Formats: sequence, structure tokens, C-alpha cells
Amino acid sequence: MDILVVGGGGREHAICASLSRSQRVGKIYCAPGNAGIAQVAECVNIGVFEFDELTTFALENNIGLAVIGPDDPLAGGIVDAFEAKGIPVFGPRANAAEIEGSKAFMKDLLKKYNIPTAAYETFDDYDTALAYLRAQGAPIVIKTDGLAAGKGVTVAQTLEEAEKALHDAMVGGTFGAAGSTVVIEECMTGEEMSILAFVDGETVRAMPAAQDHKPVFDGDLGPNTGGMGTYSPLPHIDPAIVERAIEEIVKPTARAMVSEGRPFTGVLFAGLMIEADGTPRTIEFNARFGDPETQVVLPRLESDLLEIFLAAVNGTLADAEIRWSDEAAVCVVLASEGYPASYPKGRVITGITEAEAGGDAFVFHAGTARSDAGELVTAGGRVLGVVGRGAGIAEARGAAYAAAERIAFDGAHMRRDIAAKALTPRG
Ligand code: AMP
Ligand code: GLY
Repeated sequence: MDILVVGGGGREHAICASLSRSQRVGKIYCAPGNAGIAQVAECVNIGVFEFDELTTFALENNIGLAVIGPDDPLAGGIVDAFEAKGIPVFGPRANAAEIEGSKAFMKDLLKKYNIPTAAYETFDDYDTALAYLRAQGAPIVIKTDGLAAGKGVTVAQTLEEAEKALHDAMVGGTFGAAGSTVVIEECMTGEEMSILAFVDGETVRAMPAAQDHKPVFDGDLGPNTGGMGTYSPLPHIDPAIVERAIEEIVKPTARAMVSEGRPFTGVLFAGLMIEADGTPRTIEFNARFGDPETQVVLPRLESDLLEIFLAAVNGTLADAEIRWSDEAAVCVVLASEGYPASYPKGRVITGITEAEAGGDAFVFHAGTARSDAGELVTAGGRVLGVVGRGAGIAEARGAAYAAAERIAFDGAHMRRDIAAKALTPRG
């Protein structure tokens, strides 16, 4: 069967690499893809929002399944567009992707079905929001309702910071229409964890838990990014807590979506806070694979990814074979100078072959391209995800950093403390 993967980041590279190991996969196309994806798939120069061109391409090339990576086209109805043409597609419809596309929708859903999350209020009037903010005090969290490339959330430690974030979103228009409605919520504390699950309607098949590192600098300092590194499994977190999060949060949410007449098919991604007493609460839901969570979770999949996707699309996920390796994986992101603010492009990248030579590390491309001269160059904020594997986190982490050290481009930066927490005994 020939497959079309939509997207062009590290997540899509990991998906294409996993699909390329499938027994039944014929040709893999990726739109638009990137320079690394081109090694395992044929890149097609169509943007993720060009639904007509994508579906026409799929029909002309007899695509048996389309797989959608990024959040924006999902919220924009790409799955509905493929379904309207009769093309099998893995991902949620727009009405289910709203669980990520609108924080107000997500929070109201959780409240209605008693699913644990931070207390909150939603506002579309600035003065009312400001009055509420001042009454609540800091610390407090301000979120734009709509998608803002991971940058619409401010965890404010002071009221001043909170007021600035609210003003920027609602008056300054920093996030455009996404910020005209805001959610103001209680600040939770604890340890974060991501649970991704394959979902078809009420059936939830959770993947192994992972942890992301969102702030740009070591020690969780600096502004938030899309994610600077991940690891899986989480040896320092009690498996009973993960199980509790699946039973108390992920499964009830899938059932709630069915009850609301918005059955979810695809990957449901719960961002969770584990509080000091071990109680998991919901930070957010995403309607897709995480990036860079996917880069550490899919390499641990021993079963056939295409079969899992097809089972979800056909409503037989409950019976699908989904086995995971006990090995650990650690992903270290190499980012461009200046990221997460503006960054240059076109810098020559060296050392990837050397990085992969040891056999215990490999490189997923995020923002890369080929220059006119055929050189591999930077083309995004997050450039590469270097993944190390090993028997445990320590080995996988050693492999990831040894490989990352071999790669160079001008201005490259990475965090040095990815997965360090997993190796530090908790006091
Ligand atoms: P989100 O884009 O919703 O994932 O939020 C980005 C980050 O902000 C999360 O990974 C958390 O670190 C933090 N965050 C969001 N909501 C809260 C909250 N209610 N309490 C504490 N931290 C939060
Ligand atoms: N790594 C977080 C996300 O994909 O949203």
C-alpha cells in the first residue's frame, strides 16, 4: 500500500521511518517533507494547507492511507477533506481536533465530564478578564484560546507579567484572532509527563509515557519552545501514576468526545501535571503526535505502524497488536541560533554520517533543506533531533549526546540536561 504523510518536521521523519519498516508499505510520499525525510520517502512539494492539491495527488497516486502530522491542518479540516474524496486518512476530523484547536472547548469538556484539570475561566472581554486576573493574583496562567505555535501560554509568576500577557493577547493582538479569547487558569505545580495514545472512538491504546523539555535553556530557564528534547520511558515515575492518568484522564476524555458526537480517531496526546501527592491533572490535549515525543516513542514500537493506523481508521484498534521495546530512547534537539525567536536559515550542517556511525544513535531532521549546491542546510528553528538508544536512560542519553557532539552548524545550540531528571534520585 502506498502512503501519503502530511507534514515536514522531525515528527513526520519519525513517522516515515517507522512506516518504512512496515511489511505492507509500498511507496511513502511526504508533503512537503524535508531533506532527511527524502531518504525514506519521496517528498512532494505541496503545502499542508493545500487540501485540494493534496487530495488530488492522493487520488492520482492511488494512496491507500494518508497520515496527518501537524495540528493546524487538522484544526482546519484536512481529515474531512480527505474523507470527502473517499481517501482513508489517519487523524481526527475538525470537530474532534477542536480539543487542541480551542482551549476553551477543551476546558469546558473536561469540566462537564469531571476530568481533572486546573480551575479556569474563559474571557472575550479585556476589562472583565483583567478584573478576574487581579482578583486571583499570581502565580497564574494565561492562555490564548486558539493555536499559537506553542507560544500562546504564559505561566506568570507576578501579576505584572500576567497583565502584560493578557494585554498583549487581547489588546495588542500579538497572536491575532487566536488571542481574542483567553483562558485564565490556576497555576499547577509538579512534574510534567506526556501520554500519547492511539484512539478510535472509545478505544484507547496508550503508548509509553514520555517527557518533553519546553524551555530553551538548561534548568528549564528561558522562553518556551516547541520542545528541546524528550525521553522515554520515565523510570523515575511510578507506573501506577501513568496507569491512573490513562484511566482517569485519557479514557474518560475519549468517551466524552464520543458522547459529544465528536468521536476522536488518531493520536490523542495528553499533557499532564503530576502533583506532589501523585495525582495527575490535565494541562492540555493535543490532537496529534507530539514533536519531539514521537521521536522517542515510535523507535520503541516493535509492531507494524501501518497496521495500527489502519486498525484505528477501520475501528478495530481494540484488536490491534501493539508491542513496545523495553529499550530507552533520548532525543536531543539541535536548534538554530536565536530560536525560539527569529533565526537565520541556510547554514551548512556537517557530521550527520559520523553521528550515526556508531549504530546506537540516529538523526531525525526537523528544519533542514538542500541548498542549490546540494549541501544540507538549516531551514527551521528546530533543525535536528538526535536520538540515542540503549538498555536504559543513562546509555541512551550517552549515545544521544555523543552523536550530537559530532554534528555542527554555525550558531547551533542544544540543552545539556535532557533526561537528567530521570537519573537523579528524588528527594
Ligand atoms: P501548553 O501549550 O498548554 O502545553 O502549555 C505550555 C506549558 O505551560 C506546559 O507544558 C506547562 O509547562 C505550562 N503550563 C500550562 N498550563 C499550566 C498550568 N495550569 N499550571 C502550570 N503550568 C502550566
Ligand atoms: N512537544 C509538544 C508538542 O508537540 O506539542
